[in-house]
Amino acid sequence: MRPMMPSMALTRSLELTAKWHSVPALKARLARKNAEFVVADNGKDIGGMGYAAMSETLKKGAILHQLYVHPKFQRQGIGRDMFAELETCFPDAEFMQLEVEPQNHAALSFYEAHGFVKIGETANCGDGQSGIPTIIMEKPLES
Ligand SMILES: CC(C)(COP(=O)(O)OP(=O)(O)OC[C@H]1O[C@@H](n2cnc3c(N)ncnc32)[C@H](O)[C@@H]1OP(=O)(O)O)[C@@H](O)C(=O)NCCC(=O)NCCS
Repeated sequence: MRPMMPSMALTRSLELTAKWHSVPALKARLARKNAEFVVADNGKDIGGMGYAAMSETLKKGAILHQLYVHPKFQRQGIGRDMFAELETCFPDAEFMQLEVEPQNHAALSFYEAHGFVKIGETANCGDGQSGIPTIIMEKPLES
């Protein structure tokens, strides 16, 4: 039997994800000013990580770029704790924005539970013409 070909959208999504999580991309994030990483661990396992940075284009805006909890540890408050840390890291920011795929119901629920609201949509997640649609969400930050 012929193997099934992944759809163009899935292929693009996998390419973008590979680039997004590459070592050069990680190094660039580590070198960036006005940016914060958080890692959740119990001394043995890494349960999750998050990364946010001041926006280079939006005045007084921070961007939540990554928030991942290992599936084994989800729904135990780890995302909440990491987000609580990240949202206090940018005293100059008046709001935080993020992009999330419309079918990512867990993330949408998580962000809504943490005060984010939908402010728009884009047909191209990330840089360039990815062709991956995302919802843009925003939350005001305490000054
Ligand atoms: C989104 C994500 C980071 C949430 O992390 P988590 O540690 O599982 O979330 P928490 O346990 O801190 O949940 C806090 C609250 O968010 C909401 N929530 C979290 N996961 C949810 C889910 N699957 N369904 C509905 N609500 C959810 C709930 O209100 C929850 O509170 P409750 O458990 O008291 O009901 C996690 O699901 C994840 O890593 N997903 C895969 C990666 C991803 O999609 N990241 C976001 C990319 S934009």
